[in-house]
Amino acid sequence: MLLFDGIIALKGEGPFEVIPAIYEGPFVNMLTDNSAVIWCKTTHPVKAEIEINGKVYKDEHETTLHRWNIAGLTPNTKHNYKVKYGIQSQSYHLKTAPSKGSREAFVFGYASDSRHATGGGERKILGANAYIMKKMAALAHMKDVSFMQFTGDMINGYLSSKEQQRLEYSNWKKSIEPFWHYMPFYIGMGNHEALGLIFKDENGKQQAFIDAFPYETQSAEALFAEEFVNPENGPDSEDDNKYDPDPKNIDFPSYKENVFYYTYGNVAMIVLNSNYWYAPSIANQTASSGGLHGYLMDNQLQWLRETISKLERDKNIDHIFLTQHTPAFPNGGHSKDVMWYSGNNEKRPYIGGKPVDKGIIERRDEYLDILINQSKKVVGMLTGDEHNYNWLKLTADMPIYPENYPHKKLNVSRPIYQINNGAAGAPYYGQEVLPWSKHTQSFSVENALCLFYVEEKKITMKVFNPDTLNQIDEVELR
Ligand SMILES: [Fe+2]
Repeated sequence: MLLFDGIIALKGEGPFEVIPAIYEGPFVNMLTDNSAVIWCKTTHPVKAEIEINGKVYKDEHETTLHRWNIAGLTPNTKHNYKVKYGIQSQSYHLKTAPSKGSREAFVFGYASDSRHATGGGERKILGANAYIMKKMAALAHMKDVSFMQFTGDMINGYLSSKEQQRLEYSNWKKSIEPFWHYMPFYIGMGNHEALGLIFKDENGKQQAFIDAFPYETQSAEALFAEEFVNPENGPDSEDDNKYDPDPKNIDFPSYKENVFYYTYGNVAMIVLNSNYWYAPSIANQTASSGGLHGYLMDNQLQWLRETISKLERDKNIDHIFLTQHTPAFPNGGHSKDVMWYSGNNEKRPYIGGKPVDKGIIERRDEYLDILINQSKKVVGMLTGDEHNYNWLKLTADMPIYPENYPHKKLNVSRPIYQINNGAAGAPYYGQEVLPWSKHTQSFSVENALCLFYVEEKKITMKVFNPDTLNQIDEVELR
């Protein structure tokens, strides 16, 4: 297994001097019609600077993490930029988003699940299937996407070492670096981003795995926020929810940069975290308390309600997409968890040793109710976790409950889509039989990139294999 595919910079004619190199980036993020964040990491502390649009932004002191908030750009325009660090420099360009309300046509991409696969080589650079990820990004770039959304399981993770997890993230970022110079990648969390405290019995058997604390510095959420640049417009945390055992102190990890939304043209993308405060062992061992795989907790759901309501009123937005790692309706590989648990509504998070009121299926329905009945603009959910591509249209006639389900049932007053694409390089999962299988379309285990062609009110999805370049599917969503 390759552990790291990095970069080093040398000066002189020998003996050589090692000088600062950029080992991650520069990356474009948080792109709007007039601004962007450009960031990179260097091997040594250095005062770096960026030149863009006739302006120079300089670091205030020597650092290895460089982040420049660029403002005052012209909409829908290509801007060249140059990053200088020591005696070296690199030049790329970015294109700003169209101005608000212009309804310019554009394309965006979606995928998830690129953790390392079997087979060795670049398919297995510690934590990441760098081979397929690079091809995904190359194809997205060639198809002129304006941005890529990637929702979870970038890496293998599930570690207790922050530094090893950082290395896995670095390998993932490195695989798509040549394309991230030019367009933003927005990243969400999945279960494999878990970074925790692992408790074992005397025989070495794992008894519990919970999110690491202090949450502010050691949690999966804290490391994720350090490793990526995402909007900070999400909820604060699950603190002060009705189960909070200690309302005076903050005793949950932050949602900052792992739950957020952004807009591009007439589209809004809401990124959720269905693996928040994740305790992988909670489904079978509840004594530790913790978040459940697939469960959207109370404060996050409340923030979603408010965000949808705001976007419904925004006249520049025609289409809303949701993305969370776990499908509402699993089809292959995860029927025993995500938002279904083989139809077992008993599964739920525990807080302070006590179960929360709503089970996983009730919570799934509350979530879907917001998307369907509190919105006209939501097109559907982009999901992953299952390493395959497929889609379904949730309609009123689709069976979605276990037998003798005693709780309130969802009113499907209009159809929405679930588009699952966990086919970015993780080992593939075949199809299972579930109550909604008749509604599941185009199930494929090829590596896949979903492209959304947005033309005012119309949206067409085209799906390609990034390795062989054949087209897998084409669907008119709107
Ligand atoms: Fe997953």
